[in-house]
Parts: sequence; structure tokens; C-alpha cells
Amino acid sequence: MTHPSQPAARHGGILRRPTVVATVPFALAALLGAAGPASAMTSGSSGVGDPYFPLSGNGGYHVAHYGLTLRYDPASRHLDGKAVLTARATEKLTRFDLDFKGLTITGLTVDHVKAGFRRDGQELVVTPRRALRKGQEFQIAVAYNGVPKQVTDPDGSADGWIATDDGAFVAGEPQGAMTWFPANSHPKDKSSYDFTITVPQGRTAVANGVLLGQKTVHGKTTFRWHAPEPMAAYLATATVGKFKVEQYTTRDGVKVYNAVDPREATAAAPVLKKLPSVLEWESKLFGPYPFRSAGSIVDHAPDVGYALETQGRPIYDSAPDLSTLVHENAHQWFGDSVSLTSWKDIWLNEGFATYAEWLYSEQHGGKTAQQTFDALYARKATDDLWAFPPGDPGSGANIFGTPVYARGAMALHELRLAVGDKTFLAILRAWAGGHRYGHGTTAQFISLAEQKSGKKLDVLFHTWLYTKGKPAKP
Ligand code: TRP
Ligand code: ZN
Repeated sequence: MTHPSQPAARHGGILRRPTVVATVPFALAALLGAAGPASAMTSGSSGVGDPYFPLSGNGGYHVAHYGLTLRYDPASRHLDGKAVLTARATEKLTRFDLDFKGLTITGLTVDHVKAGFRRDGQELVVTPRRALRKGQEFQIAVAYNGVPKQVTDPDGSADGWIATDDGAFVAGEPQGAMTWFPANSHPKDKSSYDFTITVPQGRTAVANGVLLGQKTVHGKTTFRWHAPEPMAAYLATATVGKFKVEQYTTRDGVKVYNAVDPREATAAAPVLKKLPSVLEWESKLFGPYPFRSAGSIVDHAPDVGYALETQGRPIYDSAPDLSTLVHENAHQWFGDSVSLTSWKDIWLNEGFATYAEWLYSEQHGGKTAQQTFDALYARKATDDLWAFPPGDPGSGANIFGTPVYARGAMALHELRLAVGDKTFLAILRAWAGGHRYGHGTTAQFISLAEQKSGKKLDVLFHTWLYTKGKPAKP
């Protein structure tokens, strides 16, 4: 097992790549329909108000379901897509935005009627023929194609549809979903998904959820995936490659699907063998596993530099070590089932998944969480660990920084010391259970911890989450 507090291992070298700057062919078609007088316009906003990613997500509607039909040719890197979104207006809408970057739109309808649209960077601005009433359910269908381009995050890492030598590594945190389907791309909006993905025979297309079936016709194989539990767009995947596949059902009835690049198979095998016991251990600690599907996508994507907790089936850029497996699967409770409402709260994902690694080590004959905490605390005040407070990373460039992972986990360890093991675990379980399939904020977590423990914890959290620099000796 590697050292548990090493996010660098998950996104090591992300700064080394001179990543392609995504260029957007702007305004391919400015078919803006009947633009009435400005005063009569009620348009959904171009973002949900996230200060780190102001254009992520959109106001004015929620998406209940995405039906994605994709066809990918690894040789030409060409993607053909059709997205059918079932949405509901939360206000009267004469116009609304989706997030969608690159690719060419060949058709767009709202409730089966051709709609006007215009593109402006990552914003796809749609003007339906008729205004949508507040509360109205509507369907958006977008046909598109082209060669998807990954996006470069503020921290220099790549995400989205990332082409590999045999397919594509598809991981969207925080903003890559828009590189392969039009989405309301912010974790505030969660939806169910169905995927129908066609690839050349011999390649496998792995998405989220359960495999409903696969069928080969004329040298092409179509995979159908069904992901019914609410999911944030960044956790969706449609990874393509040459994979060895293993399927089984756990004692708890969870369907496991592991897809492993043969080049990673030998290294991955002993770790993947532990998946059922890891999920059982995590279920004992955090409450029932939230999804009906589990598994792993172990790709060979040496340029990516990180793993992602894609819902119900984490993706790894190479064979994971055991603590990475523990980490990504802990995210299924913390980050996936319980989602952020703002990227600023990212420690609720990364601090928790990192603390799961510490607990796993402690309970499996490795270092105790206290030892891990002490080793981190011994780091000099000038160390990166203390560069910014985990509850307030300051910008999107810092959301995957060491303080978020390691000092976030240290904050949880301090909580554990303050309230005792039993109450601490009760808090974690109540968090996962009470916000299952929904959202949670840092303020809600703090008040839950206070309520469960009967203690005032504002000083503790203020110190560990929000105070700049290395906190004084605990
Ligand atoms: N959330 C991932 C994890 O810790 C890490 C991750 C996802 C990431 N996307 C990233 C890290 C982009 C750096 C850059 O499991
Ligand atoms: Zn993580």
C-alpha cells in the first residue's frame, strides 16, 4: 500500500503536459429563433453561480434523465452522438443554456420541434419555438458529431473525452462532461442515465450502471448501460478500449463489472480481487452501498495522471494500488451519492475519501490514522500541505491540491478525537444516509456533527477547515 496521503500519486505530473488549448469554432449557426422584445425574455442563467466555475451548469431547469446514444471510432477518433434530455423548467423560459464544447451540432429539437440555438464558448444557448412554462416537463434532443477535444482544467490537468491508443478514457471532473454530451454540467443537478454505445467489434464501451446487453452486428458491437440512481454529469463515463471483462454479483446483490486493459491486468488482478471485501468493509462503516452496480475500469492511459470515482464504477488510468481502490470506492458514498453544491466544498469529497484510506490502513494492520496524522503534522509550516485551508481552496486551480486531501482528512481526524470513535462513525453514517442521492454542504456537515455529538465544534472546524497556515498544536 502506498502512503495514503499522496494525492500526487493520483494526479502526479499534471503540470507536465503542454496540453492542447481547446479552440472553439464559434457560432457555427446563429439560428436564434424569434427573439421577442428584451423585456419579455426569461432566460435561464449561463451558470449556477459556482464561483470557481461560473459557467458550469445552468439556471432555469433541471434534467431528470439523459439518454445518450454514441458511436465511436477509435481509429479516426470520430464521435457521433445523440443526446435526449428530459428536463423540467423551474421558471418560465424563452431561452436556456446547456454546457457543450466543441463538436458540431447537426440537429436540435425541443419537444420534437426544431429549436434555435447559438454557441458561445461552452454555452449552448437554446431558444425553443414556444416559451416553456414554469414547471413544464420538456425534452431536448441534440444530434452532434466530430472529434471530441479534452478540456484543460485550471490546474493544468486534462479531463473529458481523452483519446487513448485503443479508445478513450472518459472522466469529467470537474468540467469535462461538456466535451462529449450537452449537459447541465454542475453537481447541483443530478439525473438518471441510459447509454447506448457502438464501437468496432473487439472494443468494449463501459459506462455507468448495469449492462443491459451487448450485441454485435456487421463488425460493430453495441453496449447498453442503465444507470438509474441520480448522478452528477462529471461522474458519467463512456470509456472505450480493448478490455478484459469480469462480471459477478456480490453477496449484497451488487452487480460488479470490471474492465481491464490487458497491459494492466497482471498488476491490477491482486487489487481488484479485494474489491468485494473493500465494499463490504466500507458498507459496514458508512452504511449500505448506494448503487446497484460496482466495479472498475482499469485503462492504460499514461498521460492522464489520476483516477476518478465515476459513479458505480471508478476509472483508473493504470492498475490502482489498494489505497486508491479504497479511495475511489469511498467516494461512492462521499461525493457520488452525496454531491457537492459548490466546488469550494470539495474537501467533503476528497477529505472523506482520504480518511477512508487512513481507516482502512488502521483496520488492516497498517499505520493508524493517528500515525498518518502525526507524520503530516510534522511537515514544516512552509510545506504545500499548509498552502491554503481545505474549506476555502480559493480557486478551481486548487481543488485537487494536497490541503484538500490531506488536511481535509486531518480535519476529520480531529473531529474523531473530539467526539470519540463511536460518535464519529455515527456522524459519517448519518451523513451518507441522510443525504443519500442528494447533496450536502460543509455547514450542514458541521451542524450534523454538533447535533450527533452534543458538542460545540465551531472552533475545531474553523481551525482545520478555514484558518490559513499550519494550525497550532492540537
Ligand atoms: N477526484 C479524483 C480523486 O481524487 C481526482 C481527480 C479527478 C483529479 N479529476 C482530476 C485530480 C483532475 C486532478 C485533476 O479520486
Ligand atoms: Zn478523490
